[in-house]
Amino acid sequence: MKILAIESSCDETAAAVTEGRRVLSSVVASQVEEHKLYGGVVPEIASRRHAEAITGVCRRAVEEAGCALAGIDAVAVTHAPGLIGALLVGVNFAKGLALRLDKPLIPVHHLRSHIAANYIVHPDLQPPFLCLLVSGGNSLIVEALDYVRFRVVGRTRDDAAGECFDKSARAMGMPYPGGVHLDKTAETGDPTAYSLPRPAVEGSPYDFSFSGLKTAVVNLIHNAEQKGGRVNVPDLSAAVRQRVCDMLLENTLLAARTLSYKTVVLAGGVSANSELRRRMADACEQAGYALYYPPLSLCGDNAAMVGAQAYYEYAAGHTAGQGLNAAATMPIDEVSF
Ligand code: KG4
Repeated sequence: MKILAIESSCDETAAAVTEGRRVLSSVVASQVEEHKLYGGVVPEIASRRHAEAITGVCRRAVEEAGCALAGIDAVAVTHAPGLIGALLVGVNFAKGLALRLDKPLIPVHHLRSHIAANYIVHPDLQPPFLCLLVSGGNSLIVEALDYVRFRVVGRTRDDAAGECFDKSARAMGMPYPGGVHLDKTAETGDPTAYSLPRPAVEGSPYDFSFSGLKTAVVNLIHNAEQKGGRVNVPDLSAAVRQRVCDMLLENTLLAARTLSYKTVVLAGGVSANSELRRRMADACEQAGYALYYPPLSLCGDNAAMVGAQAYYEYAAGHTAGQGLNAAATMPIDEVSF
């Protein structure tokens, strides 16, 4: 079954043709360079660029897969969560295409597709497992009970881990999206040079809180500047990265132990973080857990992961009609369409 999958939830317009977990083509048109000018994603610009790019991106995905549009068996699309104007471009395009081809329309939850990025490269991976899902807008610890049933056991009470990385990086003068620059800069820094808070959520051991840490970093930088000095950027980057990783690691490992999971999966843009991968690999090896994470090329937004998840959603009977709408927010465990 060949699925044409479409992703437009944030600042990448992407399309892919997939067959089960196999990727026949994957095209990503990134808008990052344009949003860089503003230090973050401008929703109105994102919607316009999606509208301009979507036809060409889908055409290329079909061509590169070596099949004509007539060879597509279903159309899948990210319908939530994300920037509403951006999502609507993908959803309306997918609805039009499904109608024109007279093929099923499969709505896919963005965060579920981030988890499914792992299925593409790990043929042996199957639920149940525990997943740390960390991106620019979300930080969750999720039980994947099967391919389409999830239970959230931990979540951020304020900012996402990616937001904490991006805002800390921006305050240190790094370009958007800062997470990857902060990660690289941290490699040469000394994490003990700065003492940063380690926020915890009382009574909810799996939940996260990152906003206090973000504020502490911004204050540290401003205080140094007010005294006519400057922070040591590699050292502060290393300290922030270590703190964020402390929280992600400790909560995930506690949840795995308490809930008796032997398989841990990382997903989302922040799963590209080199310290997170290193430390999680060491900790899982020591605990005897199997650890899976996507290659860097599949950590960010793409449509191949949408196609991989769509395969399981379709098998579960999750298809939508022409009434499908986009939603800016939607919990991973309560998907509706
Ligand atoms: O999953 P994603 O591509 O988009 C969302 O759906 O949010 O995640 C983007 C986030 C950004 O905050 C970006 O800075 C962060 O992932 N990120 C990283 C790294 N690479 C990307 N954060 C830390 N270390 C990295 N190496």
